[in-house]
Amino acid sequence: MLNIKNLKKKYSSKGGEYIALNNVSLDVKKGEFVSVMGPSGSGKTTLLNCISGFIKGDAGEILLDNQNILNLKEEDLANVRQNKLGFVFQDFMLINGLTVLENVYLPQIIANRTIEEMEKRTNKLLTSFRISDIQSKYPTEISGGQKQRTAVARALSNKPLVLLADEPTGNLDSKSSISVIEAFIDAKTNLDATIFMVTHDAFAASYSDRVIALKDGEIVRELARKGTPREFSNEILVFMNSINGVAYEA
Ligand SMILES: Nc1ncnc2c1ncn2[C@@H]1O[C@H](COP(=O)(O)OP(=O)(O)OP(=O)(O)O)[C@@H](O)[C@H]1O
Ligand SMILES: [Mg+2]
Repeated sequence: MLNIKNLKKKYSSKGGEYIALNNVSLDVKKGEFVSVMGPSGSGKTTLLNCISGFIKGDAGEILLDNQNILNLKEEDLANVRQNKLGFVFQDFMLINGLTVLENVYLPQIIANRTIEEMEKRTNKLLTSFRISDIQSKYPTEISGGQKQRTAVARALSNKPLVLLADEPTGNLDSKSSISVIEAFIDAKTNLDATIFMVTHDAFAASYSDRVIALKDGEIVRELARKGTPREFSNEILVFMNSINGVAYEA
């Protein structure tokens, strides 16, 4: 589904060149939920932004369903973003002037879906994420958890090949974090969604199938989930503390 081969990215600034990604290779299978973790500055956001095309990788390949998106022209990239990628942002960015229903409709309208397609897809999403009963409310009138589920429903509205999320639980209390993770698990279980999530949060990562650890722009290890999320979370914490100066807390 998503195959990255020898991706390189360096930033040039007055201070000189900085290699942010050095030969990163990874594969994410359809229906997989993968987390990327690593210390601050390890290249996580750079990696995500290369996949979304917001920044250009310097070398390597980023294959999305076998199409190399690394060197696409801006208009083709816009098309890929609209039709093949879904985004969940740290602050969710729902449109306050639109209802829950309209927020989920919007990307589909932009993508020119037919009314029948939109209705079918939207009903399925509203049911899957348990937001049918609040579909006529505005984002300011719903709870934090409902907002996040709406944001995940919106991100999945065009059936993206991959859902990309940068620190989706970064600004949230633990109850709301659980709500986001539940939405991701629902997306994976009910909609066969493929999720690629950058996170600092070992709790959030412990619900994913696999954790890819980045350090100084290189993949240093992959941990596959074994056992319960709690057991996996402990394994992640031990590992992250071993590669990180700063202690990760349970
Ligand atoms: N536009 C830029 N110009 C120069 N250097 C940059 C630029 N953006 C990022 N970097 C550097 O590249 C490295 C990787 O940055 P990146 O934002 O990918 O890290 P990160 O893993 O997402 O960190 P955090 O956990 O703090 O969000 C850092 O050392 C950063 O200072
Ligand atoms: Mg970052």
